[in-house]
Amino acid sequence: MKLIVLLALFALATAKHEMYTGWKSYFVKLVDEIQSKLFASLADKYELDILSHPIIGREGLLLVKPEYNDNFIQDLISIGITFRIHSEDVKSELDYDDLMIEQQHTDLKARNVGRQLPYDNYQEIEAIDDYLDSIGRQYPDVATVVNAAESFEGRPIKYVKISNTNFEDESKPVIFIDGGIHAREWIAPPTVTWAIHKLVEDLTESDLLDNFDWILLPVVNPDGYKFTFNGNRFWRKTRSTDQNPLSTVCPGVDVNRNFDFYWNSVGTSNSPCSDIYAGSRAFSEVETRVVRDILHEHLHRIALYITMHSFGSMILYPWGHDGSLSSNALGLHTVGVAIATTIDQLSLPNFAKYVVGNSALVLNYLASGGAEDYAHSIGVPLAYTMELPGFTNTMQGFNLDPRYIQQVCNETWEGIVVGARRAGDLFKNKRL
Ligand code: ARG
Ligand code: ZN
Repeated sequence: MKLIVLLALFALATAKHEMYTGWKSYFVKLVDEIQSKLFASLADKYELDILSHPIIGREGLLLVKPEYNDNFIQDLISIGITFRIHSEDVKSELDYDDLMIEQQHTDLKARNVGRQLPYDNYQEIEAIDDYLDSIGRQYPDVATVVNAAESFEGRPIKYVKISNTNFEDESKPVIFIDGGIHAREWIAPPTVTWAIHKLVEDLTESDLLDNFDWILLPVVNPDGYKFTFNGNRFWRKTRSTDQNPLSTVCPGVDVNRNFDFYWNSVGTSNSPCSDIYAGSRAFSEVETRVVRDILHEHLHRIALYITMHSFGSMILYPWGHDGSLSSNALGLHTVGVAIATTIDQLSLPNFAKYVVGNSALVLNYLASGGAEDYAHSIGVPLAYTMELPGFTNTMQGFNLDPRYIQQVCNETWEGIVVGARRAGDLFKNKRL
């Protein structure tokens, strides 16, 4: 019986993801700086879609278009870059992901009775929005839902303010966490909703509300997120069509290139068809402006900002546009290591250990207009991009297997707690 259901689901699913017919995906491993440079030029030449950036000594995962496959492989071989096939057929791998998600859904539905938002599966934007609204209704004393703006396609961009002093105690540091700047990075939003759960529905450490106010924004880019469920699983950008005459054919802007920090100077593109299109101007996207406005509104007391991405198990800090270090580099590094150590201790053996460092130095590419750089440039003392875990070694499909969502949420939450407390200590000292 179960098999029949699965087969039926499979038949349904195979109609989706047509556009990835013939694409292949590879793990690549870089051993030194030279390979790293050569790889960057191949990425341009063959328009590689990089899902997880290879760093020296750690595999990355990328997608290759059918027309480029043979030449790309020849180049890899002649340069001497080690690679392994991840999928011979990206389309069927995506079908596999869908199947796994559907199966998980069916198997575990019963367990979720009474739970507001399930963590055994990736959630649609509507379910996340409903959850936020219901938190606001049920816990009006601590949680306030803000409909910050409408996205380009008219979806609400919602965030939750959490405080046991109604955000009125100006001496409290604010912790701001967002997710879903990049639409396809599905593991990011649940880590943010889980933080809401732990602060509102299941508060176990009272200092977290006594000593801090929180701003949690699970999906910065709801249009892009929606599109990854019903259009293109690998969509990264917003869905705006008003940037450039070409934007109607190639919609969307990379929010993480759209901030006004050395805007459009490096690691960006002027082409609307590029995945790293910086937009027609800084803050062209309402999604970027929502993050900007939160940062400015609470700037005097934001002690820590984390923007959640995936994947790669990395904690990255400024400056990302040139690889130089800020005057608070020591603080950034120390707190970053504290977060990473906490997470690593709770992690699973098949998860990679976290790497902590300057984003340009760790990733080996420069990119301007990023969220954490902007936050830091205007005065947020601790600002990080977290690349959450994914299985680079044994990974099947393109998602972190849904059965690990809860694990990532738990371990990431403990990292956030440590980060918040350390940020709080530094913040107190600053004010003395
Ligand atoms: N994967 C992220 C991106 O490419 C990393 C961002 C690092 N931060 C930065 N400011 N460049 O958008
Ligand atoms: Zn990202």
